[in-house]
Amino acid sequence: TKAIEGFKPDFLWGGATAANQVEGAFDEDGKGLSTADMVPFIPKSKRGMNMAMDVTADYIEDVLAGKTEDVFPKRFGVNFYHTYKEDIALFAELGFKVFRLSINWSRIFPNGDDAQPNEAGLEFYENVFKELKKYNIEPLVTLSHYETPLALTRKYNGWYSREVIDFYTNYAKTVFTRYKDYVKYWLTFNEINVITHSPYTGGGILIDKLPEKTSDQIAYQAAHHQFVASALATKLAHEIIPDVQVGCMLARMQTYPVTNHPDDILKAQEHNDLNLFFTDVHAKGEYPAYMDRYFAENNIVVNKEEGDDEILKNHPVDFISFSYYMSISVTTQGNQEKTEGNLVEGAVKNQYLESSDWGWQIDPKGLRVTLRDFHNRYNKPLFVVENGLGAYDKVEEDGSIHDPYRIDYLRKHIEQMKEAVKDGVDLMGYTAWGPIDLVSFSTSEMSKRYGFIYVDQDDEGNGTLKRSKKDSFNWYKNVIATNGEEL
Ligand code: BG6
Repeated sequence: TKAIEGFKPDFLWGGATAANQVEGAFDEDGKGLSTADMVPFIPKSKRGMNMAMDVTADYIEDVLAGKTEDVFPKRFGVNFYHTYKEDIALFAELGFKVFRLSINWSRIFPNGDDAQPNEAGLEFYENVFKELKKYNIEPLVTLSHYETPLALTRKYNGWYSREVIDFYTNYAKTVFTRYKDYVKYWLTFNEINVITHSPYTGGGILIDKLPEKTSDQIAYQAAHHQFVASALATKLAHEIIPDVQVGCMLARMQTYPVTNHPDDILKAQEHNDLNLFFTDVHAKGEYPAYMDRYFAENNIVVNKEEGDDEILKNHPVDFISFSYYMSISVTTQGNQEKTEGNLVEGAVKNQYLESSDWGWQIDPKGLRVTLRDFHNRYNKPLFVVENGLGAYDKVEEDGSIHDPYRIDYLRKHIEQMKEAVKDGVDLMGYTAWGPIDLVSFSTSEMSKRYGFIYVDQDDEGNGTLKRSKKDSFNWYKNVIATNGEEL
């Protein structure tokens, strides 16, 4: 057999965004509030180890009553709602083959449980898809990217309630039907595992409303509802859209043992299993046996309804997608220096790796390890739908922006991706996170920038919103033009 040399000719190069981090226009054209609209900017002095924040029921009511002075950057984003034509033209100039975006559920169903969809919301995304089509850019659409309609949170406590499955599948059916001629790549839930780290972010759940239950109990029950919803959406997509491909999406936390002590090996393996549980269910269509023990030992009871197991079994995903920013390390051997990261609890510093300005441990080879692991575990097509470096950028007097650190990060990751392809991994594509600067998920900062395209706006939302190209723009453009040959 022939050795595989590099990326496939139809490799999907592009960039990834989420509605709540770019669109703004949070209350325009009939959009309802979403959970993301209630997440404030967190100044650095107030950040803990885990930067992703769970807002509380009381906080939400205070915000709605106008009792806080907080700034909510996800309400203004970077104005993509009004600038999508200009921004997509820049993506086209980069040579994008694919653009990952999410539909903000609350634009389509402002309260989540409405009987009829909001036509203005449907039209907006249709216009975006038409614009992408002009340039032959394939949309890759996330149905739910930390954007549960707030009304579902207040009325049903989000995904903790089983009723939300029906609202979600109705939403999925609506958008599949409407966009079937435009969109053939779909993701059901962004980083579905994040619900166990932040039930509010991942599931629109207010855990303070369920004081008698542990956060894990709540999260795994809600995750079950999302698994069923994801399988039902996969079924619907297959029925409604010809040639469709549906993927799940995991925040991959590749975990290493710090030492070769067998206890460390086991601890890392357990950590990996808890992470891969979410892709196991989606790819294999059933709960893995190792979770039975975890649930029993942690007093977690997942209530399933009759028929749920069949739904999961009958509708596995077509491909596996994931975000990859860093690896993490764990140990049982004494106290070690901790590391930071938006989802990393209990992780310790890896002495061989450097960190970003936000303490994320940069590990390009870990991406190859991850891809090989996924391939061996599932033997399904893979898609890297998020990867990138959040960094401070400086605009020079002449307006240029030199970001060699970003180029360096991306180059090294793409190199490892190429190695993984040579290892035999079936890789569909790569969408760099935040091709245009956007509002950070975990800290709601604007100053944590990922883009090839700079946006003139600060953390409070001041600025001209003018777009300009960083050095990385031309670099990535050439990467795409040479299909990853020139890095
Ligand atoms: C992922 C999310 O966790 O990481 C994105 O899917 C997010 O929404 C990205 O923006 C980077 O995280 P952050 O906190 O730097 O924006």
